[in-house]
Amino acid sequence: MASADSAIGRLRVGAVSSRALERSAWLTLGVLWLVVTTGGLVRLTASGLGCTDWPNCEPGSLVPAASYHALIEYSNRIISGVGVVATVVTALLAQRSPRAGAGLRRVAWAAAAGTVAQAPLGAITVATDLNPLAVMSHFLLAMAVLAAATWVAYRSWRLAGPPVLDVAHRPRQAALAWLSVAAVLGLVTTGAVVTAAGPHPGSTDKPIDRLWNLEHAAWLHVRVAVTFAVLFLVVAGWLWRRDRGTLAQRLSVAGVVLTLCQLGVGEYQYRNGLPWQAIAVHVAIAATLVVTVVLVASLITDARRDPSDGGGSGPRVREDEG
Ligand code: HEM
Repeated sequence: MASADSAIGRLRVGAVSSRALERSAWLTLGVLWLVVTTGGLVRLTASGLGCTDWPNCEPGSLVPAASYHALIEYSNRIISGVGVVATVVTALLAQRSPRAGAGLRRVAWAAAAGTVAQAPLGAITVATDLNPLAVMSHFLLAMAVLAAATWVAYRSWRLAGPPVLDVAHRPRQAALAWLSVAAVLGLVTTGAVVTAAGPHPGSTDKPIDRLWNLEHAAWLHVRVAVTFAVLFLVVAGWLWRRDRGTLAQRLSVAGVVLTLCQLGVGEYQYRNGLPWQAIAVHVAIAATLVVTVVLVASLITDARRDPSDGGGSGPRVREDEG
């Protein structure tokens, strides 16, 4: 299979190397992380209506007048634009990489479609004067795309380099790891509901309806947070006992540390009148945690089979299955 990625293989018209795909995929992931965190800053600095028009910032002018809110909103638009280009380029490279399989291509295109869909969704968000449901959907789609892009980066990395299959194959552990991915996405969703009920709608220019009740939403959010934390601790504990020193185990420790910090920041901001700076940290940690948990689950899924399993110690997933 390695020969498929050789220079001769790449002489096929338009074929690209796995290494080029990998670089593009990691770069895309970095840009998408920035999209989420700077999007959070737009809302938290009440700059959501900093630009009054879309795609122009002001009617008849693409760039903003020198206003603080307009500059923040406009910078996020630029970073999101780079995100659109990056996800589309990565999907095109996956399409042209001889070793990328159908799964990798599909997820790369789904991430690109999700980023492109943010443009009309952003326009709806501005047109509906930051309706909390629109703001929520915008944020949640960004997180879903970030999770998909993490998997694309992981698979591209696997294609480009020697396999790092140092975790033993345990289907129940893999199932639990993907359950923690579902839990962290559920947690992010309940967080967005707390935000929709909270005092940071994204603009202070006019009153904006809030959704539900802050205390009730926070109550639910904390329960989901504890459920996720317990699930992920079990995964990390399992790795610690059986696969110490592996990449998955080390990343799981990072995930546990991030989770503990996040629980602390969440509690702090809730008890201290929701200062926007603390929430900005909360959003950045949430995005980093999503990436970490998806990476841990992916590494556990592509595990080494025990010889007694009948699979030998080689890669369980064929290199071209991405
Ligand atoms: C691992 C644990 C946690 C994660 C991953 C997490 C994630 C999130 C996310 C993604 C948001 C939405 C931010 C946005 O819409 O911009 C959020 C909001 C929020 N979270 Fe958490 N959270 C966690 C734990 C907690 C805890 C323990 C509390 C304590 C009460 C908490 C309190 C809040 C509050 C008050 C908001 C709304 C902030 C606002 O007004 O914008 N979180 N969380």
